Amino acid sequence: MELKNDLLIRAAKGELTERTPVWLMRQAGRILPEYKSIRAKLSGFKELVETPELAAEVTLQPVNLLGVDAAIIFSDILVIPEAMGLSYEMIEKKGPHFPKTLKSEADIKSLHKVEGGELNYVYEAIRLVKKELKGHVPLIGFAGAPWTILCYMIEGGGSKTFSNARKFLIQESKLAHTVLSMITDSTIKYLHNQVLAGANLIQIFDSWAGILSPDQYREFSLPYIEKISKSILDVPVTVFAKGAYFALKEMSNLSCNTIGLDWNMDVNEARVLLKGKTLQGNLDPCVLYGDRDSIEIKTKKMLEKFKGHPHIANLGHGVYPDTHPDHVKIFIEAVKAFKA
Ligand code: CP3
Repeated sequence: MELKNDLLIRAAKGELTERTPVWLMRQAGRILPEYKSIRAKLSGFKELVETPELAAEVTLQPVNLLGVDAAIIFSDILVIPEAMGLSYEMIEKKGPHFPKTLKSEADIKSLHKVEGGELNYVYEAIRLVKKELKGHVPLIGFAGAPWTILCYMIEGGGSKTFSNARKFLIQESKLAHTVLSMITDSTIKYLHNQVLAGANLIQIFDSWAGILSPDQYREFSLPYIEKISKSILDVPVTVFAKGAYFALKEMSNLSCNTIGLDWNMDVNEARVLLKGKTLQGNLDPCVLYGDRDSIEIKTKKMLEKFKGHPHIANLGHGVYPDTHPDHVKIFIEAVKAFKA
């Protein structure tokens, strides 16, 4: 079906659009009372992710309630390790926990590559969302970058330093490459199926890019992101590598259309280093804790920095859970009012 609002797709393809498209990372879930009330009736986060009708419903909430220019499918990057044989739990107010983690070669031998069918619930949710959207706005599909997924498979949950994951790169670099390859192949299959189900754009989240040294990033992350990006031919691809300012120049060679910037990144520098790429971002999520005036002023200031360069407005990372939805709306409306 043809898209009625295709600003995101045109901007991703390098067009200077008549107005800047806007969406927020982590817009589905977390902030909306309408999400919280659905979530409260369920056994937990996974029931929501694995029930296509419910996942579809919360995917549509930010489109209808906030007026963003894209939907992002409600799921999690952790469905990939689960489909490979390491299941996760989502612990209330704490975050993900993997009862089993990767420690040895034997643990890695017990993993399997994803064939696709394991994640049918995601593709079904995508099909339902597409049907409901009726081409109103595009739908973004996503996955974690292999390095970020490996972090959780080794660490078993969140961490301030991910030093166990980084230790693994030092002590077991060969095994690390074996797992990263398996995650990459699984992710390619997964994302191809998301596109077949109807995803209009794919975003790869490398949330823990910034904890690697430039040499490590070049060895353990970029080649795998490139393999995934290169394999997606039918829709534009966005790579968001949090904290990877040191790699921006190399990222200009990735087979992707858009690079996401976090709020620490220098926009002028990124515009030069990433000439051929659309840029996405990069308002500090904390700006949304300010009052109306300060949100409007800071959003405008951010947009000015991208003027004349293909741009998709977003925050520099996911919206924080305690952000007031009205403040998110002020941000969205400020972008829509800006003369690009
Ligand atoms: O817009 C959306 O929020 C849609 C879906 C989405 C979720 N997770 C749902 C979710 C997306 C795009 C993600 C990505 C994700 N998940 C990332 C990459 C993006 C980033 O923020 O860096 C990462 C690292 C994860 C792993 C993860 N999932 C963590 C660390 C946590 C706990 C803390 C947190 O971020 O909320 C989750 C839980 C999670 N995933 C929630 C949601 C809505 C909150 C749990 C709940 O509602 O019960």
